Amino acid sequence: MFKSFGRGQRVSATTVEHPALKVKPRHIGIIMDGNGRWARKRGLPRVAGHHAGMTAMRETIRACDDFGIECVTLYAFSTENWKRPISEVEYLMRLPEQFFRNEIEELVSRGVRVRFLGDTSQLPPYTQETVRNSLLRTEGNTGMTVNFALNYGGRNELMCAIERYAREIADGKASVGDLTEADFDRYLDTAGLPALDLVIRTSGEIRLSNFLIWQAAYAELWFTDVLWPDFSRDDLFQAISDYGRRKRRFGAVE
Ligand code: IPE
Ligand code: IPE
Ligand code: MG
Repeated sequence: MFKSFGRGQRVSATTVEHPALKVKPRHIGIIMDGNGRWARKRGLPRVAGHHAGMTAMRETIRACDDFGIECVTLYAFSTENWKRPISEVEYLMRLPEQFFRNEIEELVSRGVRVRFLGDTSQLPPYTQETVRNSLLRTEGNTGMTVNFALNYGGRNELMCAIERYAREIADGKASVGDLTEADFDRYLDTAGLPALDLVIRTSGEIRLSNFLIWQAAYAELWFTDVLWPDFSRDDLFQAISDYGRRKRRFGAVE
């Protein structure tokens, strides 16, 4: 039934009505990996891969919106990525500025609301300014939510959440013993967002690399060998239609 809509075939915006998109994830997380290898294969510097990855990111946001996805989280820079050479880190820190300069009008016209996950206070001032501006430009929007995980690490997010909770206890606003899993969500960077349904990772690596570790507890995982700059609308369609065929039991029996 779904075979004729496999890879290589164009999937237009109208396919939001397609049967394979009937059961679709509300929230998709994407580990955009393989930029460096994409560049190396072409004899280019790693940063050329990051630049090409920006185009794939734009196309993926468009496709998610066209497919009627409510929320997408893009892993752009991890708390571990500071270990990279300073020149690469500096390039990556300049990319948000470039991305939003080119894309903000379209994002606004699509009604996209931009959010950031991770500790943005540790970013260089020019990156923080881009963060602030894109939040301001899109804060009233009610369409798809696009989260950029920037200086994000799942462990760091959990530590910060625990600290927020502990502070509320110290201030008498919360009490020990009352906390439920649903309550704990409020302290996370993803507070208020739909539950994470699907994690996509490109480039053939089969790990989470500290991405949404709490939220991914019951997410479906989908891996592809495609390198991030080559990731297309058709690949996304494939991931979403695979998701639609999975049986999610959450520990129960059918
Ligand atoms: C992902 O691509 C982008 C970031 C982590 C910022 P990589 O830069 O990790 O590419 P590979 O894994 O080295 O190919
Ligand atoms: C994960 O990719 C981080 C991002 C995509 C931003 P990495 O390339 O940094 O992860 P590892 O080092 O392969 O685990
Ligand atoms: Mg990588």
